[in-house]
Amino acid sequence: MSKIRVAVAGVGNCASALIQGVYFYKDAGEDEVVPGLMHVNFGGYHVRDIEFVAAFDVNREKIGRDLSEAIYAEPNCCARFADVPNLGVEVLPGPILDGVAPHMLKPFKAYSADTMEAVDVSEVLKDVEADMLVNYLPVGSRKATRYYAEAALEAGCAFVNCIPEFIASDSLWAGRFEERGIPVAGDDIKSQLGATIVHRNLVDLCVNRGILLEETYQLNLGGNTDFLNMIVEERLKTKRISKTEAVTSIVPYKVPTRIGPSDYVPFLRDRKVCYLYICGKKFGGQPVYITVKLEVEDSPNSAGVVIDVIRAVKIALDRKVGGPLISMSSYAFKHPPVQVPDSEARIWVEEFISGKRPR
Ligand SMILES: NC(=O)c1ccc[n+]([C@@H]2O[C@H](COP(=O)([O-])OP(=O)(O)OC[C@H]3O[C@@H](n4cnc5c(N)ncnc54)[C@H](O)[C@@H]3O)[C@@H](O)[C@H]2O)c1
Repeated sequence: MSKIRVAVAGVGNCASALIQGVYFYKDAGEDEVVPGLMHVNFGGYHVRDIEFVAAFDVNREKIGRDLSEAIYAEPNCCARFADVPNLGVEVLPGPILDGVAPHMLKPFKAYSADTMEAVDVSEVLKDVEADMLVNYLPVGSRKATRYYAEAALEAGCAFVNCIPEFIASDSLWAGRFEERGIPVAGDDIKSQLGATIVHRNLVDLCVNRGILLEETYQLNLGGNTDFLNMIVEERLKTKRISKTEAVTSIVPYKVPTRIGPSDYVPFLRDRKVCYLYICGKKFGGQPVYITVKLEVEDSPNSAGVVIDVIRAVKIALDRKVGGPLISMSSYAFKHPPVQVPDSEARIWVEEFISGKRPR
């Protein structure tokens, strides 16, 4: 099997967890159960088959450094759980566009246009022969995400959209990837065990047990730059839609719902705290209340899921399947082109791996 050549846009905490994860599990046994991966050998691809060939960021202290060092540079605060060797990949300046909100200029240490010029991302992707570009930009990067998606299309490179901008789930964008014969997976990556999946499953349980849901909320706190970026409600619109639909799509009727990032608590750093509440009525009109507090290290939580997505996208490339990757997107993303229960989506992915399902 050939190597999987991956480029990343945004060398923040999620990129750090992904890259560390590849090195942490490089020697995993083929049949080993790795928490957070569907399979060590995913359709013939091992975790160590993933190699990083390009990286783009706007932080002047990450730009110019080897990717293996940039992933630990401030303001990143992802746990350090693996030694990553020098990768020989220099972080390049990407265009800033709307990736950096005014209140994030300082925390993200954004370069100034007077001192640095952005590279042409599409040219770089072609030069390094990237198989795919993984989008890890901050929430609210509408223009920047479209710039990177366009660059991928131009370079003939697949696109994995981990953020809540709608590309794979938008019929126009999905259609453009299909026309070019290039796979796209997205949108907004799910975590291994995060607020969304816990909320979805509790709501699913209630619906299946005939509980009449009356109201529900999911409030999230964190202390990393993802949460700092999201204190501006204006940048949050698509995040709220994506997280809310992931839960409400399970319920066959309308329920008053409030879901989203709720505050930035600096000392929490990369620990995310979620408060979840469900209220409903059961037999005899009697009330039932569920309250849950979930605490996780935020960034490593989705890295294993992305490692599986990368390998599914590579399989699609090998099979010359273009357009939205339906099975993997339903399984791994909060706002996929098609929403189905997680257990069904997992079966779809297994069918895709074995070749029974085309996409
Ligand atoms: N943590 C999870 O499990 C999870 C789940 C779902 C979605 N996400 C999303 O993934 C994205 C990345 O999360 P993170 O924790 O790594 O965020 P982060 O704040 O740590 O990293 C974002 C990076 O993007 C860089 N950046 C900003 N504008 C850019 C541009 N125009 N071009 C290139 N780089 C640019 C920043 O300098 C920073 O390094 C966020 O949108 C987040 O909401 C994360």
